[in-house]
Amino acid sequence: MKMENPLTGSMISLDEWWMPFTANRHYKAAPRLLAKAEGMYYWTPDGRQVLDGTAGLWCVNAGHCRKPIVEAIQRQAATMDYAAPFNMGHPLAFEAATAVAAVAPAGMQRVFFTNSGSESADTSIKIALAYHRARGEPSRRIVIGRERGYHGVNIGGTMAGGIPGNRKHFPALMSGVDHIRATHDLARNAFSRGQPAHGAEFADELERLIAFHDASNVAAVIIEPMAGSAGVLVPPQGYLEKLRAICSKHGVLLIFDEVITGFGRLGAPFAAQRFNVIPDMINCAKAINNAAVPLGAVIVKNEIHDAIVEAAPVGQIEFLHGYTYSGHPLACAAVVATQKLYAEEKLFDRARAVESVWEDALHSLKGARHVIDIRNLGLVGGIELEPRPGAPGKRALEAHIKCFEAGVLVRFTADIIALSPPLIIEKDQVERIVETIRTVLTALD
Ligand SMILES: Cc1ncc(COP(=O)(O)O)c(C=O)c1O
Repeated sequence: MKMENPLTGSMISLDEWWMPFTANRHYKAAPRLLAKAEGMYYWTPDGRQVLDGTAGLWCVNAGHCRKPIVEAIQRQAATMDYAAPFNMGHPLAFEAATAVAAVAPAGMQRVFFTNSGSESADTSIKIALAYHRARGEPSRRIVIGRERGYHGVNIGGTMAGGIPGNRKHFPALMSGVDHIRATHDLARNAFSRGQPAHGAEFADELERLIAFHDASNVAAVIIEPMAGSAGVLVPPQGYLEKLRAICSKHGVLLIFDEVITGFGRLGAPFAAQRFNVIPDMINCAKAINNAAVPLGAVIVKNEIHDAIVEAAPVGQIEFLHGYTYSGHPLACAAVVATQKLYAEEKLFDRARAVESVWEDALHSLKGARHVIDIRNLGLVGGIELEPRPGAPGKRALEAHIKCFEAGVLVRFTADIIALSPPLIIEKDQVERIVETIRTVLTALD
């Protein structure tokens, strides 16, 4: 398949790039391309402006191509392109870790750099196992996730994840994990604003599972405090508090996967602070550096770090894990510049301040054609559509395409439209997103 590159006029082939999480044949038959971005907008190669209702992929929280971040990366690329992180270092990686630790909850000031959310999931699971081993409890190896959870696509994240389609081809990986049920409860909680009232009791299943496996075998629970990829599932009131209490009672580590919720998405640095429920580890990526260069991190409680590090003799590598690109200079330059920008523009507070405007606008879609539920928290929105009989997911895919044609980028997962704009969004842009969706849904079969 070939098409003209509108930017250069030369022909490009679409065959070679096997695109991730994409219906390759459907997409390549009518590709939707982006060529430029700034602030709240993308531009297509033919110059059409598209309002970004998704911050890229839940990640460009400060808006696109922000000057201080661009310049920091440019400077670093020209100064030192790469430095090995094994038994070597460079100042920016330490500065970046300090900047991340500065917004993390108290007592969680140790940062392990990865390159993605998926690598953060696997890294956090390995840290949990290493921690229990260091403390003399090596039998603690079972990891408990949650149905509809998404922790990326590496082995640990695939095992602990709870999206059946992502798991079904890999049964050999699925030992040593179990799952609690998802919190979604359409019958009782449809059209809740913010945290739904019903469902704290779903956390009790964790107590049962830990008893079933015996606490002496359970290493960690990993969940997204607000599930994003599986369709914006906001935790019921009191639910996370219960999970925290059950984990603490049984010596099980609680890992929050904050790859989406980290860095202001919920109007606080992390969901942990928004909900005032502090886990033992926080996985992050994406907005850590405004997604300008791939980077992830696991933020670890000091005592967990200390237990692992102090279990080894000085001079010996304490944790045999890491990546060639852990703490990459360009990515770290972007972290330092991004965190400074977030602080200077008070973007996390801004997200919290815009939340009520966002919530009202989203919920004005109640009664719009096909809409069976609306969920929101921080600057996140989920609009669930009635699936088309016999064609699940088709309606939301078509809504995504029609919105794009109308100049607004929205995401979809199954029949749920997911929204997560940059935190710099203005009121008129909120209205434009919502009115575009309304118009598209009205015309959609
Ligand atoms: C909660 C969560 N964890 C992990 C990941 C995986 O991140 P990555 O695609 O950077 O590997 C994602 C990606 O969307 C995510 O939403």
